[in-house]
Amino acid sequence: MSIDLSLLPTPPMGFNTWNHFHMDITEQLVVETIEAFVAEGLRDAGYRYVNIDDGWMAPARDRRGRLTPDPARFPGGIRRLSDLAHQQGLKLGLYTDCGTRTCGGLPASYGHDQVDAEVFADWGIDYLKHDWCHVPFEDFPGLGEAQVAETLYGRMSDAIVKTGHPIVLSMCNWGHGHPWEWARGMAHLWRTTPDIADAFSGFTPDGVMSVCEIFHRNIVLADFAGPGGFNDPDMLEVGNGGLSAVEEEAHFALWCLMAAPLLLGNDLRSLDAATRRLITHPGLIAINQDPLCRPARMVASEGGVHRLLRPMADGSSVWALFNERACERSVPFPLGGNAAGPVSDVIADQTYDQVPGQVAVPAHGVRVFRVG
Ligand code: GLA
Repeated sequence: MSIDLSLLPTPPMGFNTWNHFHMDITEQLVVETIEAFVAEGLRDAGYRYVNIDDGWMAPARDRRGRLTPDPARFPGGIRRLSDLAHQQGLKLGLYTDCGTRTCGGLPASYGHDQVDAEVFADWGIDYLKHDWCHVPFEDFPGLGEAQVAETLYGRMSDAIVKTGHPIVLSMCNWGHGHPWEWARGMAHLWRTTPDIADAFSGFTPDGVMSVCEIFHRNIVLADFAGPGGFNDPDMLEVGNGGLSAVEEEAHFALWCLMAAPLLLGNDLRSLDAATRRLITHPGLIAINQDPLCRPARMVASEGGVHRLLRPMADGSSVWALFNERACERSVPFPLGGNAAGPVSDVIADQTYDQVPGQVAVPAHGVRVFRVG
């Protein structure tokens, strides 16, 4: 059984609670986030999914064996939240795990795929993130991690299809077993990398990776993404305080170029103007949502400046220069003087009469040009 690929023609845009709030989530937070989507113009910019991550479940299943929301944190239940999201033209996402417990230690879906999928469908859930902690590998003697992942994600995928309810399935096994090679048709998204750290580059603790490390691991997987199935280099850290303004712009632009999910990971109830401007940037979002869905490739790399190219559905091309190093660089314009058609600077929203000879790329920054 295959999932409905038409549910996700372009990468999902939305929000997820994890990066900023971790397990400390409540119904109030979700309600206020839904309100912020509308009030801050995020819905108008294309953001739709309000995704609740780990931390929503009660510590035990109910008497009928169903997952149930934590009564103190989500007293009104999940159905009420999905109704609220739908009334606002938004969608609600939820989280579970392939193993016996979630990464945060709450009940998870191992051996309960069908009942859980049915509960999610009853609640009107539109998106499910399915994690990879506490997997009982001992139940699969002789199988490698990729085969266990295919088995367990396959079970949830089939269970969702069987409900007949349209649910986007997001696999979260951190790239273990190269899911990009086998997950298309089973899930709509597959994580390619460990969890993102709120750091541009450099040393990160075990199990998390900086924006630059993730970029390098994900950019080489461009061939595997396309309508209905996307590489997922994890949620955004824009607005969480660990990146400078230039680094945030690079992080957001690179995720747009790579056709990555744009899942905001900051507190949307206290957005500042600069963050709002970046995450609603029409030119960058148009690149992310381009219907051709051909992620950027790295076509050259010299002295820490990477040249990226992404073809667009209207026949134009997007060229980007990403300077990973800590000092500004001036490099020749990607096409020399030979651009066919008009050239615009996407981030500055400026059209050039004449193609620039040299381009200054700030330390840790990007420049993005659309040609043709
Ligand atoms: C894993 C996932 C994260 C988040 C946490 C929740 O680490 O990769 O994105 O969902 O679990 O516990």
